[in-house]
Amino acid sequence: MQKPLVAANWKMHKTLAEAEQYLRRLLELVGDKPPVELVICPSFPALALAAHVLSGSPIALGAQNGHPQKEGPFTGEVSMYQLADLGVKYVICGHSERRRLFGESDAFVAEKVRAAWAHGLTPILCVGETLAERRAGRAWEVVEEQLRAALGDGLSGPLVIAYEPVWAIGTGVPAHPQDAQDMARRMRAWLVDRFGGDGKDVRIQYGGSVKPENAREFLALPEIQGALVGGASLDPEAFWRIALAASGDKPSS
Ligand code: PGA
Repeated sequence: MQKPLVAANWKMHKTLAEAEQYLRRLLELVGDKPPVELVICPSFPALALAAHVLSGSPIALGAQNGHPQKEGPFTGEVSMYQLADLGVKYVICGHSERRRLFGESDAFVAEKVRAAWAHGLTPILCVGETLAERRAGRAWEVVEEQLRAALGDGLSGPLVIAYEPVWAIGTGVPAHPQDAQDMARRMRAWLVDRFGGDGKDVRIQYGGSVKPENAREFLALPEIQGALVGGASLDPEAFWRIALAASGDKPSS
């Protein structure tokens, strides 16, 4: 049984000084052997600093995005190759903000996932339906299509999938834990059906308005092995409380 993976998505927040202060505080809180795996995904300017501060610590570095091409004329982009060179281990692929605000297609997300593996990174693939899609009874159909598009070529390395209903992100209104569990169970069945034992090893996170007060409700679910946390990850104490909520026992599924 793998450890749960709790990842902080800072989005477009924090100066270098704020990033350093946060990371030093988190390192104090976490100690040498945290009961869960922790990943911090700062914004690009803080990545090199974070790589330096976290080096030799049990906290892994993640990136919020990465371009699939190794290098070239892609103004404003940072490649998976460059991220790997910095010591990044995880990369968020297909976050709903990238899909919705920056027009990322399923096909482009699939390229990112493949490129992440090619450079030794673990993708955190984000999937999730909008509120209209859920109300129309299409939540699974939408998520399945996102999974099929991103993973159609098979698994070529370790994978984390974050189930993030779009309407729960940044709104303070999380999914109902039972809905998150139902979705995660269907995702697991889909993964095992296609990829056998490798599908069992994929860690499924829940994301969308996770806070210290509700983290346990999600992290205790049998099919959920971690969380992707936005707003509440901006404070090291709150993020650590969420991580601790992931370390408790779970009922078997
Ligand atoms: P939130 O964001 O925790 O602020 O809802 C989650 C995410 O976007 O990954």
